[in-house]
Amino acid sequence: MRWLAFAVLLWGLGSACTRQPLPSEAGPPARPVGQQVVLGTPLGLPPVPVPPENPPTAETIALGRDLFHDKRLSADQSISCASCHEAASFFADPRRFSQGVDKKEGNRNAPPVMNAAFHPVQFWDGRAATLEEQAGGPIANPVEMNLPHDQAVARVAADGNYRARFEQAFGPGPVTMDKITKAIASFERTLIAGDTPFDRYFYGGDKTALSPEAIRGLALFRDKQRGNCATCHTIEERHALFTDGRFHNVGAGLSNEGELVDQGRFAVTKREADRGAFRTPTLRNIARTAPYMHDGSLRTLRQVVDFYIGGGSSNPHLDPEIKPLRLKGEERGELVAFLEALSSPAPRQPEGKP
Ligand code: HEC
Ligand code: HEC
Repeated sequence: MRWLAFAVLLWGLGSACTRQPLPSEAGPPARPVGQQVVLGTPLGLPPVPVPPENPPTAETIALGRDLFHDKRLSADQSISCASCHEAASFFADPRRFSQGVDKKEGNRNAPPVMNAAFHPVQFWDGRAATLEEQAGGPIANPVEMNLPHDQAVARVAADGNYRARFEQAFGPGPVTMDKITKAIASFERTLIAGDTPFDRYFYGGDKTALSPEAIRGLALFRDKQRGNCATCHTIEERHALFTDGRFHNVGAGLSNEGELVDQGRFAVTKREADRGAFRTPTLRNIARTAPYMHDGSLRTLRQVVDFYIGGGSSNPHLDPEIKPLRLKGEERGELVAFLEALSSPAPRQPEGKP
């Protein structure tokens, strides 16, 4: 029996060796070698969570910034991450559906990458656990950048300047998908925006930072008997992410027949309760990241508020917290005024695009 086990082991080793490993799989997980950069925390936000295996360094952040803007990471070299995540829109896409290579369209609106570092999971349906895991997705996705990972690695490695910078950032060794996604994730962790009029009012003690209208909107937003918004778009004692990081069905994006078009979280968990549920989006910079909802079906904040006043769209999986709201005409405007007060100073345009 022992000999048999040995033979099986040998056979297993043999087949593992004949399989050509993808460049992305070669070697142990990479780790940045430089000094860790402390990411600042603007007013109203908690410290940025950083995974122990990928501490951000000046070198990985700069590499990630260039990769994020590099069109060579798409099949026909026409699209970069920034094509669908524009700095001017807080790294969201102002188009309802983004266009990938060959003008292919997906069926979800691109959310802002600004403050995505705080999400416990990535994507509307939470199918990626981390920013590192997320970053590989769009490169290979046929309707986005459509470039197989081994080719992406080969293109980056063909550039001597990149090769040298990867060695500076991660130590000697080949360029790998692991290093590419770690660098992009570290750049994304620097895309943090707080310090809004709401933050200055609520956390900074500046009672003049919000208009009286927006202050009434904030009260409606938090009142469980009125707007009931903060139940899901949470505001904590010391900071506010405006999301509970959980999945809810609010009835957005139903077909004309009232059917769910996109199953949302259900596709990941296969739990009936998750049908049509999407991760609660942050509302930071919401006035700058139209259109709204996972399918970009609502164009203005007024439309979103009216949608909630109507109690979302009825469907068998509607979240019990979504009910018709009894709000007066001027109270709609107050909620909108509050949402508009969640805007941070505009992000800086990145320098040194390749
Ligand atoms: C063709 C347009 C397009 C390109 C190119 C693209 N994205 Fe996206 N991105 C999207 C869309 C659409 C979504 C939402 C998809 C979903 O949730 O199913 C998304 C989601 C994300 C998210 C999740 C944010 C959240 O709130 O959950 C991150 C982070 C992100 N993209 C980063 C990147 C990076 C990094 C790249 C480049 C490697 C990239 N994207 C390239 C369109 C694009
Ligand atoms: C039961 C939890 C829940 C409650 C209560 C709730 N929301 Fe939402 N909100 C969500 C979810 C989940 C989405 C995304 C839904 C989708 O795309 O299908 C969302 C989307 C939004 C969006 C669009 C965000 C974007 O980036 O597209 C806005 C704006 C918004 N909500 C504001 C509000 C306001 C204002 C209230 C109160 C009147 C409220 N929400 C109440 C969970 C909730």
